[in-house]
Amino acid sequence: MVRWFAIASWRHGVMTAALACPLEHLDASRVGRLAIRLDRAAAFPGLGDSHTQQESADRSVESHTNVDARERMLNGLERPIPDTLIDRADRGSTTPETSDTIGTTLDSGKPEGTTMTDYDVQDMVTLVTGGASGIGEATSLLLARGGAHVAVADLRLEASQRVVDSITAAGGRAFALEVNVTDETSVDAAVSAVLATAGRLDAAVNSAGVGMEAAPLADTTTEEYRRVVGVNLDGIFFCLRAQIRAMRPTGGGSIVNLASMLAQVATAGASPYVAAKHGVLGLTRTAALDHAADGIRVNAVAPGYIGTPMVMSHTGPERLALLNSLHPVGRLGQAEEVAEMVAWLVSAASTFCTGSIFTVDGGYTAR
Ligand SMILES: NC(=O)c1ccc[n+]([C@@H]2O[C@H](COP(=O)([O-])OP(=O)(O)OC[C@H]3O[C@@H](n4cnc5c(N)ncnc54)[C@H](O)[C@@H]3O)[C@@H](O)[C@H]2O)c1
Repeated sequence: MVRWFAIASWRHGVMTAALACPLEHLDASRVGRLAIRLDRAAAFPGLGDSHTQQESADRSVESHTNVDARERMLNGLERPIPDTLIDRADRGSTTPETSDTIGTTLDSGKPEGTTMTDYDVQDMVTLVTGGASGIGEATSLLLARGGAHVAVADLRLEASQRVVDSITAAGGRAFALEVNVTDETSVDAAVSAVLATAGRLDAAVNSAGVGMEAAPLADTTTEEYRRVVGVNLDGIFFCLRAQIRAMRPTGGGSIVNLASMLAQVATAGASPYVAAKHGVLGLTRTAALDHAADGIRVNAVAPGYIGTPMVMSHTGPERLALLNSLHPVGRLGQAEEVAEMVAWLVSAASTFCTGSIFTVDGGYTAR
């Protein structure tokens, strides 16, 4: 059996890594050839994501690839909320600068001015799990920019606090919470803390998640299966239950679960991740049916590969080229592009949407 691992290095504050290669014969050209040969079989979010919590903490805020985009997003916090639900004329440019990987640049290829919409989320109390990084962080910033009061919840409290500090420094409202979504007591406590701090819960975004090492199903350990399903599926169940219980007495709310394109199609070597994400879709649809009459909308967003730490911390130039090629648009997505869809689903602009999956994948699942 061929075993794979990641070669990591730091460059410009970004932890990057090349996935791969038989342990005995590491050489860069072989890494590239093998990575290409793996094609879709080796390509899914977080492949090789075996980092420890300490490693996660170490790569925290300074490891983000979109610092400039984040600053631009925060610049909008003090703008007046537009009269229209979506004021397209008020869009600013958030096209990220290029980000370094191992000797490679991640050129977003995204046209100027395609993000940074202002959503009607003024004064909504919103809980974002996984809010310390990637899609969760971008969503926290975008919601705060629209005037929401954001609880940034994550396993990594310090990293959450840094996101909160960015928001409050720009005039927004946010507070940090520590939560472990695999632990129902911790999830219940986090939701109770939101109610104690802000008085209610109007919306929730469940973005906490982990990737995994690639392995065929027969070689996947029980421990790995439980780790990945524990965060990516059990975590969604615990969060949904606590959030719905909190929203029901106040007339409802909107919940957005981060699924994946792998909630709709499979890829080889990722059985726990694919199973968990398919399960997220099932929970989303069922929760939507169970609680439509309570005024609670539940939807899922299915991103393709997004240039967040989950993916970029294990991606060198060869793998980046491979991942780009899997998307008809020819590039990875940016966290801010996913946040746009999430914020729209949180907002009053999407009130007829529930029980649905919204794909943001650069065409990945179209072919
Ligand atoms: N990045 C992608 O390409 C991609 C693609 C499809 C779906 N997704 C999904 O989007 C979501 C966000 O991914 P991301 O790319 O922003 O990842 P990320 O690694 O940047 O952020 C994930 C966050 O979740 C937190 N987290 C992990 N385990 C936790 C736990 N037990 N309790 C609380 N917090 C925990 C981490 O500390 C981290 O801050 C995940 O559910 C992921 O599966 C990501």
